[in-house]
Amino acid sequence: MSERKKVTIRDLMRKKENGEKIVWVVLYDWTTARLADQAGVDMILIGDSLGMTILGYPSTLPVTMDDMLRHAGAVVRGVKYAFIVGDMPFMSYQASEEDAIRNAGRLMSVGCDAVKLEGGAEMAERVRAIVDAGIPVIGHLGLTPQKASMLGGFTVQGRDAESAKRIIDDAKALEEAGAIGVLLENVPAEVAKEVTEETSFLTFSIGGGVETHGQLLLSHDILGLTLGVRPKFAKQYADLKEQILDAFKRYCEDVREKKYPSEEYVVHMKEGEYEKLLKLLKKE
Ligand code: KIV
Repeated sequence: MSERKKVTIRDLMRKKENGEKIVWVVLYDWTTARLADQAGVDMILIGDSLGMTILGYPSTLPVTMDDMLRHAGAVVRGVKYAFIVGDMPFMSYQASEEDAIRNAGRLMSVGCDAVKLEGGAEMAERVRAIVDAGIPVIGHLGLTPQKASMLGGFTVQGRDAESAKRIIDDAKALEEAGAIGVLLENVPAEVAKEVTEETSFLTFSIGGGVETHGQLLLSHDILGLTLGVRPKFAKQYADLKEQILDAFKRYCEDVREKKYPSEEYVVHMKEGEYEKLLKLLKKE
């Protein structure tokens, strides 16, 4: 078997050409990053969904660049091989080109290999500016959580022909602007298929069927750590929520019933030292 190397854009393109599916996962911390990297994922996204999954906000909107940089740094330190994408949070790229380049650059400075931002044709110039600064960009279309309010909530996008055509045109605009790929979130499989056929960059899906070059899921959904509603498209591979609840409950019980710490978890002084200590304390 050939030695495992750091995944590059060229490797991702090669996988696309060879028809090999690309595995992409959203996560936010050093421990999970190490485990996912060890398991062999190709790509990692430090998503601004951390606002909801980690920081407990009701949406991704309050997430700041400082939040993203802290979590991106932690993930980068845990990863040896996977290609790392940093998500650009709300208002880190919308207001001006300068903001967009500077903030994308900050994510690259902590070790990301590319950035992701939401939007299509309306963001094409922004994407071009970031790419011209030497930073690879992945676009994000369909259900874009930073615009959930405008989209009418966290619902499927592109169900009718007109809105589907807009998504395809947006993907083309992103490709033209120099993006290396696009993530399609919560769109019908037919739309993701057409985007993949009508463009030649990388296509990824989170809830967009099987036809894209790669698949993305949130680690919280994969691991069964979702506390709210798990989206219909998200397959759960473990039930850590139940295991964690059970572990905490048993710990509470053990401490209250004085079963923990039992002798195997206790350290003692060197032989004879306790007696000496008692003399020093004049307790003997
Ligand atoms: O922030 C995130 O995790 C994302 C995914 C929902 C696609 O952008």
